[in-house]
Amino acid sequence: MVKAPGVPAVEAKNLTKIYGQGESRVEVFQGLNFEIPEKSMIALMGPSGSGKSTLLNLLGLMDAPTGGSLKLFGKETSSMRDSERSSYRAQEVGFVFQFNALLAEFTVLENLWLSLRMSARKDSLPADGCDERERAMEWLKRWNLIQRAQHLPSQISGGEQQRVAILRALIRRPKILLADEPTGNLDKGSAEVVLKTLRDIQQELGVCIFLATHNEWVAEQAQEIWEISPARLSVRERAGRGD
Ligand SMILES: Nc1ncnc2c1ncn2[C@@H]1O[C@H](COP(=O)(O)OP(=O)(O)OP(=O)(O)O)[C@@H](O)[C@H]1O
Ligand SMILES: [Mg+2]
Repeated sequence: MVKAPGVPAVEAKNLTKIYGQGESRVEVFQGLNFEIPEKSMIALMGPSGSGKSTLLNLLGLMDAPTGGSLKLFGKETSSMRDSERSSYRAQEVGFVFQFNALLAEFTVLENLWLSLRMSARKDSLPADGCDERERAMEWLKRWNLIQRAQHLPSQISGGEQQRVAILRALIRRPKILLADEPTGNLDKGSAEVVLKTLRDIQQELGVCIFLATHNEWVAEQAQEIWEISPARLSVRERAGRGD
């Protein structure tokens, strides 16, 4: 696994998730051990039902593990108070889903603007006093979506919607981005543009990206590919990669 000095973004020991009890009990994984270094980009692959979304939900504190230890940026999550969990979700983590869940009644610009508004952290806003709207416009310009600023999500393409969803998640400058099949409903050309946006922003902001995908090409863009199969997480060996 990729190693880096300093505190890892995620450190899991003996991480276990079991849903339900008795006949409806589903043991998704048991005893996973892994570290995600800060600023890394890792792709998570595995068959349907292997636990990719479950793992992303645990890392986003949307759900709690059944057992084991989960540290996020050095902090043990089991002892976090509700207010700390909410503040992590609002400020430290960004989500991108397969179906982007942009707010349908709001324009592209408003979707970004609202994301900034909802993030209470003041240092996510520029120090020079320019407001959230200007910041959202800057991002749309920078990522070639300015022509779509006043459009509703239904008036732009699926690939554009997904790129807006990425900007919306990253404009708050989270420390980790969790992406669950972000290109799952896109054709290859749009998926390539979405991935390029994701990689470029990752490098510019130094954000850590953990991305679940069924798509080999998408996974190849990451530094490492992790494979999850019933109860096991392993790093895929790849020839000739220096990063
Ligand atoms: N809330 C839940 N209650 C009970 N079982 C669940 C729940 N959520 C997920 N599961 C089960 O846990 C297992 C892992 O589901 P998960 O959604 O994490 O898989 P996945 O790898 O993301 O699959 P896919 O590639 O289809 O998205 C599946 O067997 C699923 O049915
Ligand atoms: Mg899933």
